[in-house]
Amino acid sequence: MCGIVGAVAQRNIVPVLIEGLRRLEYRGYDSCGVAVLAGGEPHRARSVARVADLDEQVRETHLEGVTGIAHTRWATHGAPVTNNAHPIFSRNALALVHNGIIENYESLRETLRGKGYEFVSQTDTEVIAHLIHSLYRGDLFAAVREAVQQLHGAYAIAVEHKDQPNTVVGARQGSPLVVGLGEGENFLASDALALAGSTERFIFLEEGDVCELTLERVRVADRDGNDVQREVRTVAAYGGAVELGPYRHFMQKEIFEQPRAISDTIPQADSFDASLFGDAAAKAFGEIDNLLILACGTSYYSGLTAKYWLESIAKIPTQVEIASEYRYRDSVPNPKSLVVVISQSGETADTLAALKHAQSLGHKHTLSVCNVGTSAMVRLTELSFLTHAGREIGVASTKAFTTQLVALFVLAATLGKLRGHVDASLEADYVRQLRHLPAALNSVLALEPQIIAWSEDFSRKENALFLGRGLHYPIALEGALKLKEISYIHAEAYPAGELKHGPLALVTEAMPVVTVAPNDALLEKLKSNMQEVRARGGELYVFADSDTRIVSEEGLHVIRMPEHYGLLSPILHVVPLQLLAYHTACSRGTDVDKPRNLAKSVTVE
Ligand code: G6P
Repeated sequence: MCGIVGAVAQRNIVPVLIEGLRRLEYRGYDSCGVAVLAGGEPHRARSVARVADLDEQVRETHLEGVTGIAHTRWATHGAPVTNNAHPIFSRNALALVHNGIIENYESLRETLRGKGYEFVSQTDTEVIAHLIHSLYRGDLFAAVREAVQQLHGAYAIAVEHKDQPNTVVGARQGSPLVVGLGEGENFLASDALALAGSTERFIFLEEGDVCELTLERVRVADRDGNDVQREVRTVAAYGGAVELGPYRHFMQKEIFEQPRAISDTIPQADSFDASLFGDAAAKAFGEIDNLLILACGTSYYSGLTAKYWLESIAKIPTQVEIASEYRYRDSVPNPKSLVVVISQSGETADTLAALKHAQSLGHKHTLSVCNVGTSAMVRLTELSFLTHAGREIGVASTKAFTTQLVALFVLAATLGKLRGHVDASLEADYVRQLRHLPAALNSVLALEPQIIAWSEDFSRKENALFLGRGLHYPIALEGALKLKEISYIHAEAYPAGELKHGPLALVTEAMPVVTVAPNDALLEKLKSNMQEVRARGGELYVFADSDTRIVSEEGLHVIRMPEHYGLLSPILHVVPLQLLAYHTACSRGTDVDKPRNLAKSVTVE
């Protein structure tokens, strides 16, 4: 999704800005641009192609400057055309980039038109540029502080003005923005990752902050306009760009990294202790009697899987809700709830807003399960559990999902133990199963050649149905999501028992039906559902545990999973579905790592 990079320095800053955009590319975008102050006015280059194209343009036109801002845009208001690409100018004096959405842009636009401002783009962003310009009296920091008081919605902005050639001003509300501290130069970005290579010292701006960067100084004011000192944090872990190695796409690499990611996420200790979730966890866990899980996308499906574990292992009532729904509906807060937010990025706008909404309703016990330790979500929750998936580049989440499942299983086991439902022998059993997971996953990954053979069939289809029951219903949902988002085949998932209540009407020989068939208590029920499909001529593609005695026949294709894995089985069963989606997308020739219209980190609602 949209990305921001800005800098003030004493050297030509354009290569740093372009490199920053490159590092943010994986998030998804449809246009990009850069503007520098040079010769008393802003100059810019913009592109509706890739950052590489922008780089070529700036080299050809010798765009250079010591102060600059840059952007990758994921279109919300206005099509992805050059005119709507950021930086947006106001009267050739001020340049601005923006992430987020300004909700009152229409009324602001009318007011600004009344003051003689001409609008040349369809963006909501242009009102911010003109508004700041209209308030500018020689002090950009002051003008931005005044302007943001009038903005409703979410934003992170970076802005520069021709009359202050060594200043960049930033502001954030609802979208992330960090300051990077250098020696005689300073930086701004929507993600610290963009500045890897330039600095390791960061200030993570708080909601409502406005900052001013000059060569020697960084000034931060809070939402009330008071100067504040924000903590400087060293983040060394960002390192260089992630290499693709022998893989064709990042998604494939990330699927194959899962044994390592899971092994890094499994706690080292031989017991499930509340302290794994933070110092305050023991007390908090003792005060709760239910869970409310909030998340979006793939993270939501890990929450749905966790519900089965939490209710069966810890016997604790658990509700799972899509964050964008929860934040806007009337709900009945329960002070004894533990609110759990699950997010790979820790920056997803709807999940963050849902968390804040829950807190505003009086929920005091909150836990984040997150892959980014410095993210807003982790900073906002009382407790946290970090997954160690490493950076995930592919828009379609894979290793983030399976590591979330590990974290949530550990949560269920920990709560189960605290509540007297997991004795020492069961605890030892769970620890042993977790430790064996990486090896079990390697055996599943070895099924890739068989899945490639199936993907040829799938690549010629336009629809697919996924079935699962119980613990594996969310896995069917995740499998359908993977297939639709990267191969653009319409895919839906159903709990297999629901088949006869509607989707059976769709079943013909043209509809492949993918079935997740672990050898659990629901297997016989699932087999009956498969018969219902076969009787209507539907073609079944079944991932069956080795001891299920489901054998291939006409219209029934079976890939045998190496072993049945009990309660942790969803972590194994999702992997062939990831591979099926991946290879089907490859056969169809789609842009696997950057599927059309989608973004990695959804920082607008
Ligand atoms: C986007 C990504 C998904 C991800 C979802 C939630 O839609 O493309 O892969 O599952 O956001 O993201 P989060 O970072 O909160 O897990």
